This record gives sequence, C-alpha cells and structure tokens, in this order.
Amino acid sequence: MKLKFLGLIFFALFFRSYSLERKLSEASLAVGEQHADLPPRGWNSYDSFSWTISEEEFLQNAEVVSKRLLSSGYQYVVVDYLWYRRKEEGVWADSLGFDVIDEWGRMIPDPERWPSSRGGKGFTEVAQKVHDMGLKFGIHVMRGISTQAVNANTPILDPVKGVAYEESGRVWRAQDIGLKEKACAWMKNGFMSVDTNLGAGRAFLRSLYEQYAQWGVDFVKNDCVFGSDFDINEITEVSKVLTELNRPILYSLSPGTGVTPDMAKAVNSLVNLYRITGDDWDTWGDVASHFDVSRDFASAGMIGAGGLQGKSWPDLDMLPLGWLTDPASSEGPHRSCRLSLDEQKTQMTLWSMAKSPLMYGGDLRNLDDTTSSIITNPKLLEIDYYSSNNMEFPFINANSHLKAGNLVINRKYGKLKKRSMLDRHILHLTICEDHSAKGWVSQVVESELDRVCWKWNLGTNKRLFCMDKRKPLLTSDQEMVYKQQYQGKHHLLALDSREFCLDASPKRKLTSQELKGSSFSRCKWDANQMWEFNVNGTLMNSYSGLCATVRTVKAATDDAGGGIRSWIATGRAGEIFLAFFNLNDVTSTISAKISDLDRALPGRSLGNASCTYTEVWSAKSDGPVNTISIDVAVHGCALFVLRCA
Ligand SMILES: *[C@@H]1O[C@H](CO)[C@@H](O)[C@H](O)[C@H]1NC(C)=O
Ligand SMILES: *[C@@H]1O[C@H](CO)[C@@H](O)[C@H](O)[C@H]1NC(C)=O
Repeated sequence: MKLKFLGLIFFALFFRSYSLERKLSEASLAVGEQHADLPPRGWNSYDSFSWTISEEEFLQNAEVVSKRLLSSGYQYVVVDYLWYRRKEEGVWADSLGFDVIDEWGRMIPDPERWPSSRGGKGFTEVAQKVHDMGLKFGIHVMRGISTQAVNANTPILDPVKGVAYEESGRVWRAQDIGLKEKACAWMKNGFMSVDTNLGAGRAFLRSLYEQYAQWGVDFVKNDCVFGSDFDINEITEVSKVLTELNRPILYSLSPGTGVTPDMAKAVNSLVNLYRITGDDWDTWGDVASHFDVSRDFASAGMIGAGGLQGKSWPDLDMLPLGWLTDPASSEGPHRSCRLSLDEQKTQMTLWSMAKSPLMYGGDLRNLDDTTSSIITNPKLLEIDYYSSNNMEFPFINANSHLKAGNLVINRKYGKLKKRSMLDRHILHLTICEDHSAKGWVSQVVESELDRVCWKWNLGTNKRLFCMDKRKPLLTSDQEMVYKQQYQGKHHLLALDSREFCLDASPKRKLTSQELKGSSFSRCKWDANQMWEFNVNGTLMNSYSGLCATVRTVKAATDDAGGGIRSWIATGRAGEIFLAFFNLNDVTSTISAKISDLDRALPGRSLGNASCTYTEVWSAKSDGPVNTISIDVAVHGCALFVLRCA
C-alpha cells in the first residue's frame, strides 16, 4: 500500500468556502460545557503495549502524563484494546474464547492484569486514581457484541429494570441480536455488529455505555465501526445513549481506512473525534500518507465542525514516538521509534497544522528529553489548539537537489514530474448518497449472469472496468441460513478468474491479476463480498452499507519521492503560520512569495507587505523579507511564524 497518489485538484482549495470553524451544534450542553471545544490530547497505550498493558503499567504512565504532560494539555489517558483478554500462552489479537465477560455478555477487565477490578468493580478504581491525578480516563471498545458472548448466548440486561430484557413474553439473548455476517473485518473471531432494529439490540448497547459511565469513563474509542468497517446504526445508537447519560463522555471512532469527507459528514455531529487514516506507525510511508487525506478534510471544512454536544475533529492517529512495541504484537514496549528526528518533527508539525487530536503513544516511563521537547513544543501546541483557516498552501516553488546538484528539477506547485505515471483504478467506498458513487451500469450477458461496469465517461459511454454479477452460489446448508438475508445480493466476479470476488477493501487496485494489494479475494460467504445494485447506478456493500466508486489516479512507478507540501494557518494575534514539508528523498529548497500568502488567507490583503519571521524548529529569525526560502532536509520540515506589515 505504498502507492503515492497525485493530488490533482489543488485549485478546489482556493474556491472552497472558508467557514472552517462551524457554529457549535444547536443541541449542546449548558453554556461553558462543550465537548471537545479543542482537539483533545492525551496518551494511549496501543503503540507501546499493544493489548497487553497491566493496571500497574497503566497507572505509571498516567502518573508521568500528570507530572510532565498535563501542563501541555495532555489530559486523557486511554486503555487501548482487549483489556478484557486473559494473557495466556498462545493468546493473540484474534483469539476466540479468552475474554472475561459478565453474566450479561459485557466485557470486564481481566482481573489478572487489572486487580482492582475484582468483585465487580470494573474500572472504577482505576478511573478514580486517574481523576485524582487531574486526568481523564478513556477506554477502547470494539463494535457490537463479542463472539464469545454470542456463543455463550448470554441474556441481555434491561438497563432500565436491571433484570433480563423481556419483550413479547420472552427473554432476549445474545444470539437474537448478534449479526454474524457483520463480524468485524479485522477481528473476525472477536466481535460482530448487533441489530439495532431490535429493542434488545439497543438495550445491549445501552447496558454497555451505562456501565462505562458508572465506572467513571470520560472517553470511549469505538473501534471497527468506521471507515471500511462502517456501522452507522451502532454509531447513531451509541451517540444517542451518550447524550442521555449524566456524565460527559467524548466519543471517538476508529479505524479510518478509506474514510471520505462524505462519510465524515454522515457522522461528525454524532461524535467528537474520528480517524481518517489507517493505523499510523513509525515508518516514513505512514507519515507521508497523511498529507493528502488531511488536506481533503481541511478543504471539506471538517476541522472543528459540529460534533456530539460540541465539536468534532478529524483524527490522524497517535504519535508513535519514543519507546514502542510492534503492530498487533503480544509484547510490551521493547524498541525505539524508527523515524528520523526530521521525520518526527514533520509528523508533529503536520498533526498540529491540521489541528489533529494529539495522543502520544510511546511508553512514558522511558520518555527521553528530545521526544518530550517535540511533543510539548509550545508553538506547535498553540497552533494545534488555536490556529484557524488551516489548509494546504499550494503556491510554493521548490528545487530538489538530485544527486549533489548535477540535476535540478524545477517544479511549481507540485511534485517531481520525472517519473513515469500509470493510470490506476482504485476502489473507494463512500456513503450511498454521494453522487460520485453513481456510475455503475448493469446489463444482461446470459441468464443468471449480468455484467456490471463502471462508466468513467458517461458522455461517450466508455467503460472502464467490468465484473460479472452473479447470485452467490450456495450449498443447501447455506441456502437455509442465508437465503433471506442475501435476497437481492450478488457476488461480483473478476472477469479473468471467476473464483475471485470483489471485496469491500477500499484503496485497493481493481485488478485480479496482481492479487496482492488488489480488491479481489476468493469468493466466500461474507457480507464484505455481497453487493446490491441500485437502479440509480450505485453499488452497495452489505457489510458496511457503503457504496463503491472508482477513482482513476496517476501513480508513480517508483517511490523516489512524495513531493513538496506546504500548509498555512492564522494565529490568534494575526500572525501567519507557514509550514514547508519535503517528502522527497533529496534535500529541497522551498520558497514562497509573501505576496502569494493572502491567496489562502480569507479577508487578508498583504499587498506589497514584507514580513519578519521566526522558524520554529531552528529558532532562526529574519526579515523583513518579500520571499521566504529555505533548504529543507529529506523528509524534514520548516515552520515559520510570520508577522507582516
Ligand atoms: C441511490 O439509491 C439508493 C437506494 O435507493 C439510495 O440509498 C442512495 O442514496 C441513492 N444515491 C444517489 C446518489 O442517488
Ligand atoms: C505594490 O507596489 C507597486 C509598485 O510599488 C504598486 O504599483 C502597487 O499598487 C502596490 N500594491 C499594493 C496592493 O499596495
């Protein structure tokens, strides 16, 4: 997934509306009690402990947050996933049957790792200790209900009456509400959606969140409900429950793979944070992949848009700096961050210019001074909280010093043109109301087999990409189970190898020849592979309820560099923040004319102004100048604070 895509439509940025900071939602709390007025900050256990953290390790980290980071706004301490899993030989992230659940099928902390939870206390004591440190307490939870609870067929708690949920004269159980065909795509054995059309399904979700509130939870990260795992029903129901609780709880969504601004607009008023990228780890590719997506959400006006009882923030994921573990590991922290110092500064600068929530991920018991100075840099934190009109700034020039000055490629507003570009057709998922999802046509080829094509040019009727559409083949057993459920649903077969079916995995290449990284996998009975063709030309996936679109992108044939980027924002005192980023693998000289800055500054006219500046990372000052120009190291950045007159 290391393709780098060209962002072609820069000009969309200048014509967009500038109302980035939307009015707070009408349905807000009492005056002064707004949720997530500013992008939240804190610490999350995942990057350093994966799922294995213990109560002692958690509280040790919280202690450091309160002593060293709270004064910089880091306030939430969040236990990431699987706090209910018993840590035994051979257990891993997608094991089945090792979780600690209560009589109502709800997850409770593993008492071996969380001793204070014994006797039905859950996280009460941990939350109390966290609150006593002046911090707020968060937990990660998965979608819906666990497979373990469904297998045990536990009764559902009626949260109003405090007894088993009864309706139509019977007690309802886990198997009545669990949707097996909507198992979490990235944790198939672990969790599945619940049917929110059922009273018992809604009662179950309420019984979870009321318990979290009783424990003293202030922040919930709900995973496997967003991005390609979209479950709008659960998000809507949870949001409703949270509004009705007497305890303010921030609502955060994950993961963010394949999230589009349209998907974000469908949820932003229901939540406070939502991830807009897949997991971010300490590789340069992960950092670089955040530039396009953060630009798109900024230009769609999503930064600080209305949210659940306050505001909402596109979330670029944790900062995996310092002392870490590995993705999906069953081991605690054991290695240092692999990003270079320049890359770490670039990450912190982009996250701040895009006003992302800042959740540090490293083990704080090993917080070194360099890392600490990066994540507590006062100017960056000021920008993250208080800057406005944040957007990508395209009016820059750059010279990339390829091979020690032998070859200098002069570029304007963009990227290296020296590489050959190929058209690639990429599958994206978006909400079905999105007009860009229209464009599928279906025609009969033979009986029981239609062909579905994406028309890329409606005028000339030119077809870009076709698949065969067939009713899923069923064994007679499956027929009994699935017939009702998948009425009207189809498999979409690759034309050249019909045992492969289209999978709702976004941002994959639409080719079956190169199966690695492609959107096709072996046909199976899986909601992810079930599609419904609508007469308006949309193609809806049964797992997420999202619709497929195809985008044609120019992709470079090599990874020589990701180009030059720049972001701009304004400060509270009228200062201008301008960041340059060098995504290339060679040092680049990047420059901008002062007279171009107001092209991205609404209501500001700089005319022939000259500006004085300070560069934040080097602390160098200069001016007055008419042009800013600086050599930026490989994968590095420069951040100017400009005062213009
Ligand atoms: C297309 O039709 C589906 C099903 O009726 C609907 O949900 C969707 O919003 C429509 N999309 C567009 C873009 O008209
Ligand atoms: C900038 O300077 C030029 C020449 O000195 C002048 O003609 C022009 O009007 C000035 N522009 C603004 C916006 O002040």
